[in-house]
Amino acid sequence: MMNSDTPKLLTLGYDLDAWNGYGAKIPITTDIFPTINSHILICGMSGLGKSYFENILFSKLIISEPRGEYFFADYKGDDSFAYLRKCPRYYAYKNTLQALDAVYSRLNARQSGEDESNHPITLIWDEYTSNILALTNEDKKAAAVVLNKVSEILMLGRSLAIRCCFSLQRPEAAVFPAGSRLNFGAVIVLGAAIKSIYEMLLPDFMEQVKGCVFGQGEGVALLQGSQLHFIKSGTVQNSERMRQICVKALS
Ligand SMILES: Nc1ncnc2c1ncn2[C@@H]1O[C@H](COP(=O)(O)OP(=O)(O)OP(=O)(O)O)[C@@H](O)[C@H]1O
Ligand SMILES: [Mg+2]
Repeated sequence: MMNSDTPKLLTLGYDLDAWNGYGAKIPITTDIFPTINSHILICGMSGLGKSYFENILFSKLIISEPRGEYFFADYKGDDSFAYLRKCPRYYAYKNTLQALDAVYSRLNARQSGEDESNHPITLIWDEYTSNILALTNEDKKAAAVVLNKVSEILMLGRSLAIRCCFSLQRPEAAVFPAGSRLNFGAVIVLGAAIKSIYEMLLPDFMEQVKGCVFGQGEGVALLQGSQLHFIKSGTVQNSERMRQICVKALS
């Protein structure tokens, strides 16, 4: 039986120096026990490996939480996720908001006590910022409603075992109203980012990241706002197996 002191660890990647220096794979983990703040933010410029990383992370999350329920929003309809297209809980392009609504209604049902289940529910959303900015251009009022739902999930999700895993290029404050960006327990910045991105996400660690050079799939992970790690995302060992795991979880 798990109690609140039992960590439930998810491997985010591997220690970068150990991997590059002497080929050792030392896992960098984050605690995903439901009562821990386990929202995950993945940030990085285009082409630096966010979607590749998300596929790996998603499959690891499913293995760690086989009872979990997953919803996948893919604003770009990225090729990296083409294998998910037939899954009922995969939502691309204009349909991403259906994934948000599904998760938001679960939040409300758990809040009201109508839903007494407590298994983890995860909303994965690729290209979150672009999706919100496009929606804002189209319809400001509708975008404001969406942002309120997102910030409610980010702020209240932890106590209701509901988690967000968002991937984006720029973590603008405007797409995280009321400071909801602070609710990400794990923040991963892949590749060398411009200073303003580090300032937004890792303001207390500017000295440590200054001048760092990262390749594809390499970067930093900040855990619970206090532990900074340099990480390597790892590579997909068996893509067929990884895809089977992800497809099953969204079906
Ligand atoms: N760690 C890695 N090891 C090997 N190949 C990788 C790695 N990370 C990314 N790639 C490859 O690099 C390319 C770009 O990666 P990916 O699509 O994940 O980037 P992205 O950050 O999601 O870009 P975008 O913002 O354009 O969606 C892909 O072909 C991917 O397979
Ligand atoms: Mg991508």
